[in-house]
Amino acid sequence: MRVAAILTAAGSGSRLGAAGPKAFVHLAGVPLVVRAARALTGSGLVDVLVVTAPADQVDAMRAVLASALPPVVADVVAGGISRQASVAAGLERVTSVLGSGVPAVVLVHDAARPMVPAALVRRVVEAVWSGHEAVVPGLVVTDTVKQVELPHGGDGALRVVATPDRRSLRAVQTPQGFTIDVLRHAHEAGAARAHDEATAATDDAALAEAAGIEVWVVEGHEDALKVTTARDLALAELLLASATSSGDAR
Ligand code: CTP
Ligand code: MG
Repeated sequence: MRVAAILTAAGSGSRLGAAGPKAFVHLAGVPLVVRAARALTGSGLVDVLVVTAPADQVDAMRAVLASALPPVVADVVAGGISRQASVAAGLERVTSVLGSGVPAVVLVHDAARPMVPAALVRRVVEAVWSGHEAVVPGLVVTDTVKQVELPHGGDGALRVVATPDRRSLRAVQTPQGFTIDVLRHAHEAGAARAHDEATAATDDAALAEAAGIEVWVVEGHEDALKVTTARDLALAELLLASATSSGDAR
């Protein structure tokens, strides 16, 4: 079965606060989107790569990726108003590149996770190949997690609603993997949510769940951390530096 990957890189990176879009920000001299693209293609499993870019940065994204990619079929599309809308745009392109009706695994991966190990990419793809139609990598959580009431005014203190059993929680990452039919169905069923960040799904598994599709978790990896803030970027720099000095070049 062929493997396509949608690399989401159309966000602005408001919480990182850099001058331009987050995907172009450098981590140890290499743009996040290039690191993430290399991580996917470096697994040797990806036949088709579609990258979502901010609508006014499509050409800039093509230029950044041009020198960086091994020869997979790669394309850049304009993303949408939400991550969900961006993935939907990428999925349209994947479907037209592969041809409709062709069985495939589709990975959805965030450029904000530039250090994902090839072994994790493989684990997700193999789980889909083995019959799980929707697969996410997840890590056990070490913090106790409280569910709170969403804030509406007040002094900033939030009322706790519940404390879920920590053993039943997983913090999920990307790449998430799906059969193409399941991912298309999940996005079609949830399309009405995509136009607003407030209603849009923050990951594709949530769309699959809402569409009644069983989602499975495989073991994630700490290196697949998400760069959201400047602190995350600094942490990623440190991890890369220590991996390089110990000979584990990433
Ligand atoms: N993303 C996207 N299209 C959007 C919004 C986000 O493709 N309309 C992508 C981002 O580029 C990122 C991934 O989805 O790789 C996860 O989103 P997030 O980490 O929230 O990135 P940003 O939305 O860019 O950051 P922020 O929320 O801080 O603005
Ligand atoms: Mg965002």
